[in-house]
Amino acid sequence: MTYYLSLGSNLGEREQTINRALACLEELAGVITSRSEFFYSAPWGYNSPNPFCNLCCCVETNLQPLQMLQATQAVERRLGRSHKTADGHYEDRTIDIDLIRAFDGNGQEIRWETETLTLPHPLWQQREFVRVPLQEIITKQHKTIEHMRTRMVAGNWKMNKNLQEGVALATELKEAVKDPKCAVVIGTPFIHLATVAELLKGSPIKVAAENCADHEKGAYTGEVSAEMVKSTGAEYVILGHSERRQYYAESYEMLAEKVRLALANGLKVIFCIGEVKEEREAGKQNEVVKAQLEGSVFGLSAEEWKNIVLAYEPVWAIGTGLTATPEQAQEIHAYIRSLVADKFGKEAAEDTTILYGGSCNEKNAAELFACPDIDGGLIGGAALVADKFLAIIAAR
Ligand code: 13P
Repeated sequence: MTYYLSLGSNLGEREQTINRALACLEELAGVITSRSEFFYSAPWGYNSPNPFCNLCCCVETNLQPLQMLQATQAVERRLGRSHKTADGHYEDRTIDIDLIRAFDGNGQEIRWETETLTLPHPLWQQREFVRVPLQEIITKQHKTIEHMRTRMVAGNWKMNKNLQEGVALATELKEAVKDPKCAVVIGTPFIHLATVAELLKGSPIKVAAENCADHEKGAYTGEVSAEMVKSTGAEYVILGHSERRQYYAESYEMLAEKVRLALANGLKVIFCIGEVKEEREAGKQNEVVKAQLEGSVFGLSAEEWKNIVLAYEPVWAIGTGLTATPEQAQEIHAYIRSLVADKFGKEAAEDTTILYGGSCNEKNAAELFACPDIDGGLIGGAALVADKFLAIIAAR
């Protein structure tokens, strides 16, 4: 379900209102899933009594109405915006949102239609709302929107699917995914990479390897280097997956080297972190993810960090049918983002894509993705069935 969130401003000056709304958008970057539309009207005056008078921007989110209201109020508090205008017309509960419905200070409903906004309040009827592509304003006025992080749904096929089955699945996905609202990546075994990357040329779906070597090249029988992965047309590599850590004894140092080589060869890295069951039960999950980040990726430069996507995958949830609750996942995602902020700064943290993985499926994805710090999913089992994977993409 798509909801629309509108932010009003009564600052008066067009320039100011646009900048104020952009600041709101930036603050809300964590919940915005589309940047395609932006509504505003020409300036009215400094004492306008309603929130939508000068500007109204509309963004798509996956949040439920109550969460949206809370998010909006949090933003407005942070921006120090008053909830009451001079004539008291505009009460504390500034924006009452319920799927494309908003109410003015007199409890009258504002109807939102695709192209026009009907404004029942007499003052509002004087306003003409103009619809302009958000991107147009952004490029002219501001750069903040460029900081909005990528939402992503990535599949990890693991050691499933022979070449023919993999090609069949990739073909099915290619047919169905034409204009997704988020980045879509499929992680395949090495043997599929070149064929699937070729098949997906011109499609928005990108390809990832599930591993690469910790050496540049040479006598390492059976290994596949980052440079080789890149030469197939793959753009990503999944590193640090718990199955690699657990079954192939991949250490922090080894992973740091793999990450370094992947980035040096022009790949983007989906770097996985997450605690095992005993660590969660002992309340050590924060400690664990911090050590994993510090051990392998916090030595990167700010420039290198731009090509890192994080995936939080609690090991106890992988392939078990046990999913972290949205509250558990959100809590640790927010913590991970705070670690990134401490290391690389707030802006870099806001730009970092953090995926959730671990029994994420077509039924629970929307609820998980509605959390402000969960930017998408890294999907195992459910990525092996086109319909399920497509439903997860649609939920993002
Ligand atoms: P499942 O979705 O099968 O639990 O696997 C998650 C995972 O490990 C993705 O990398």
